[in-house]
Order: sequence, then C-alpha cells, then structure tokens
Amino acid sequence: MNNETLSRSAFLRSLGLSTSALMAFYCIGTTMTACGSKKEDDPDPGGSTGNGITGTTTGSNIQFTLDLKHNTFAKLKTAGESSIVGDVLIAHTTSGTYAALSKMCTHEGTTLGFRSATNDLACPQHGSEFKLTGEVQKGPNTGGNIPALKVYKATLSADGNSLTVTS
Ligand code: FES
Repeated sequence: MNNETLSRSAFLRSLGLSTSALMAFYCIGTTMTACGSKKEDDPDPGGSTGNGITGTTTGSNIQFTLDLKHNTFAKLKTAGESSIVGDVLIAHTTSGTYAALSKMCTHEGTTLGFRSATNDLACPQHGSEFKLTGEVQKGPNTGGNIPALKVYKATLSADGNSLTVTS
C-alpha cells in the first residue's frame, strides 16, 4: 500500500478497527456536530418553536397566543414588564394580572408605552395617558378630546406558560 495516498479511513482500517470504532475516531477528530448535539447547542432548549407567537396579531381579527417559555416573551412572567406584539401592547401589571390594549395612541397613532410605576400607558408624542381599562386619563397636550383605547382580553393558561389575547 502506498503511504503517500493512504486515506485516514484506509489507514485506520489497516489497523483493524471496526466501523463503530472508526466513527468514534471521526467524532473525536471533528467538531462533533455530525455525531449528535449537546444540550447547550440546542437553540431552543425550552422546547418552544418559531417566534413564540401563534395566531393573528394585527388587523381587525386579533387572536393569538404567546409562548411565555420563549426567550422573547419570558420577561412577561414578571410583573411590571410589557411587550408589543403586532398591534397590541401587553403588560403584566404591577397588580399581577395581564392587560392587552391597542398599542396605538388614539390621537395620532403613536406607539404607547407601559409605565409600571403608575400602571398605565403613556404617549411620548403629546403626553396622553390611558388607564389599563382603555379610558383616557389625560388628553394630548395639544388640546382636544380623544377616544378610549381598544382593550383586548388576555388570558393566562393554567400552567402559566402561555397567554392568549382575543378581541
Ligand atoms: S399621538 Fe399620542 S398624544 Fe398625540
């Protein structure tokens, strides 16, 4: 046998190693990716898939469920946290319940923010404020009246791992 053209597998076979021993050798000699994966290599170790959202998050027929085990939404398990999903602002209120309201200020459509310190929503554009019931707490600093925010129903699953928002 010509040693200059001897492949690694041919060399190992010449040593009398079995096929399984050859595979073990390859696994040790390579990055391990072809021979199985480690738990820390799993991009989604919690078992959730996709973007953590199932359903419709925009438009007139909003109905979706969030996977609170997903990295994007896990923070919503903590009181005082909030997320915007499609057209909806979801807040885990400081009183421990969930609120879901339109994210768009009824004045000129600016995206609202949840304020955990006061447990309400505020508009950064002209200062309007809304209660979690959707009621206008303070109108725009430019004057005039604005309508209440649309409120959605937010229901936490019994195991606390998913939140369903419906119209
Ligand atoms: S857009 Fe929100 S107060 Fe004007």
